[in-house]
Amino acid sequence: MTLELGVLVSGSGSNLEAILTAISSGRLDARCRLVLSNRPSVLALERARSAGVPSVVVDHKEYASREEFERAMLAKLQESGVEWLALAGFMRVLSPTFLAAFPGRVVNVHPSLLPAFPGTSAQTQAFDYGVKVAGCTVHFVDAGVDSGPIIAQAAVPVLDTDSAEDLRRRILEQEHALFPQALQWIAEGRVRMVPRAGARSVVTLASEDAER
Ligand code: GRF
Repeated sequence: MTLELGVLVSGSGSNLEAILTAISSGRLDARCRLVLSNRPSVLALERARSAGVPSVVVDHKEYASREEFERAMLAKLQESGVEWLALAGFMRVLSPTFLAAFPGRVVNVHPSLLPAFPGTSAQTQAFDYGVKVAGCTVHFVDAGVDSGPIIAQAAVPVLDTDSAEDLRRRILEQEHALFPQALQWIAEGRVRMVPRAGARSVVTLASEDAER
């Protein structure tokens, strides 16, 4: 299936670019219907423009409440025909009401090996903690912060000579490979999020489905 993708961004957009490159090179079966930024004048918007992909700013500061902000985002995404959402450095937490519009169809990349170091500045948190292995996680999004079911992870070593910036860069390189790959698994129907009443949702592999 071709993913009709919306990509939510807040900053530099290097993960957006990795997704767009994967699409144009045929490694990811998706169409980027819309890039939506909650911040004006970010590099991600320029990257979208140079790739010829539609983009829009919905600035959270212009709305009185999260509900209104999310309603405005939802209107833009729905009128663009977006069915799946990739959060690529999007720095706002999404409410259950918003997520319900894309059930099991919102995917995030986070720069740590979750469940370690959720939240902002995860790479610095890991570096300051003194971990010897760091990495990134692609996961389905639920109502918590970086808490949804994990699809894939990539680990990187922390070298004695690393600065926090070195580590951030090494993790980011892995994000650029892992995020498009995980989205492609979804496009191929190989993984999906399965909600479980009263329990944590899980990621199911297609092959496991076939065995049931
Ligand atoms: C990435 O490290 C992402 O995991 C985190 O913010 C960073 C965004 O980078 N949430 P970019 O905007 O994709 O370049």
